Amino acid sequence: MAKDTVTITDNVTGKTVELPIYHGTQGPAAVDISRFYSELGYVTYDPGFQSTASCHSSITYIDGQQGVLQYRGYPIEQLAEKSSFLEVAHLLLYGELPKQEELVGFTRNITRHTMINETLKNFYNGFNHDAHPMAIMVGVVGSLSAFYHDALDIRNPQHREIAAHRLIAKMPTIAAACYKHSIGEPFVYPRNNLSYCGNLLNMMFSVPCEEYVVDPVAERALDLIFILHADHEQNASTSTIRLAGSSAANPFACVASGIAALWGPAHGGANEAVLHMLDEIGSVDNIPKYIEKAKDKNDPFRLMGFGHRIYRNFDPRATLIRKMCHEVLTKLGKQDDPLFELALKLEEVALNDDYFKERKLYPNVDFYSGIIYKVLGIPTNMFTVMFSIARTVGWVAQWMEMIGDPNQRIARPRQLYDGAAKRDYVQVDRR
Ligand code: ACO
Repeated sequence: MAKDTVTITDNVTGKTVELPIYHGTQGPAAVDISRFYSELGYVTYDPGFQSTASCHSSITYIDGQQGVLQYRGYPIEQLAEKSSFLEVAHLLLYGELPKQEELVGFTRNITRHTMINETLKNFYNGFNHDAHPMAIMVGVVGSLSAFYHDALDIRNPQHREIAAHRLIAKMPTIAAACYKHSIGEPFVYPRNNLSYCGNLLNMMFSVPCEEYVVDPVAERALDLIFILHADHEQNASTSTIRLAGSSAANPFACVASGIAALWGPAHGGANEAVLHMLDEIGSVDNIPKYIEKAKDKNDPFRLMGFGHRIYRNFDPRATLIRKMCHEVLTKLGKQDDPLFELALKLEEVALNDDYFKERKLYPNVDFYSGIIYKVLGIPTNMFTVMFSIARTVGWVAQWMEMIGDPNQRIARPRQLYDGAAKRDYVQVDRR
């Protein structure tokens, strides 16, 4: 990283500090403020991290103004068109697209870890059938650390790699079991002769008493959505994982913390929230009313699936998934689905509304992913679970990058304290 400097003068004390500027390969340069406190006695204040780079990373690059997303330098459009989810997983984890024999070896490594310990199945019985599957995911994924003592030394690169493979391999099995638990059907064992997404569909929708054939349209649609969701640099859940991991916590606990962060409707929970919103709107006639609600600052209602912290132009994933949504609906003969019609009309009205135009609020990836999931028969409360399966790849890649960095330190932000000043304790009878 090339080094320039910026000089900051404190107008109060007259002190000056020269801070290094780091230039990455793409994107805005970063001022290194790590000496700010020791030199000037100030902490920096940036709620929501709007101007703060929490780390350096060579995994994913986003240019929110231009609508650019790249994994390890490869444009998402090319990966979406030409690659597969496991190929992308290899790229994110190891930095390069796999050669043919590497892909075979990687796929073998992932598929041989797809089963979960039989004891783990008992965990599901501790949850009510109507428990939200994301709640079950947090618990079950967190509990994996109790099963793999053999490879939990995070300072050992082989252990890190095995943990990463285990997580990527077991997430579909754990997720499908959440669904089966909720509908009271027996868990279906993974089948390693199926593709990553084919296996997931089989575990979710097959039953022991009938033959189930994976629909190639559904399989390809899922694979594409998973590619688009695989990583997104330092978003809320990934930052949660880096923060948790910085204390040297085990990777299963870290990923459980990421799943919990992802669940929020401002983040991955938005795909489920979009469907609830469309249900609530009900018909195109109600769109104007809901657009007004979204614009009303006294109303907490927001258009779910709209807006993004980084993308202020368009979300390139949304462009790809919108196209895929049309294709899937047409292939499955559901192009006249009223839900899709409602979503398209809502999109059109919002995109032509000054409030949304001025604030650069465009549909994000989750505006469309839920519609595809719905058409594929995936229940609404499983949408964010699907997201978590795909994002596990990015989470473990980011976690491995962080732990592998020799300069890694525990993440410990500072604060601007605005509570009570020092005061003396008063006995209860005198308060
Ligand atoms: N509906 C209505 N108004 C909105 C919306 C929305 N979806 N999103 C932002 N705004 C408005 C805000 O009220 C604010 O208006 P103001 O300037 O008049 O106060 C302005 O646009 C800027 O919004 P912020 O909340 O400051 O933007 P921020 O970057 O903090 O939030 C976020 C981004 C959380 C994604 C937000 O746009 C949102 O809540 N969207 C809906 C939830 C959603 O779809 N989340 C998924 C994100 S993608 C993902 O995580 C995979």
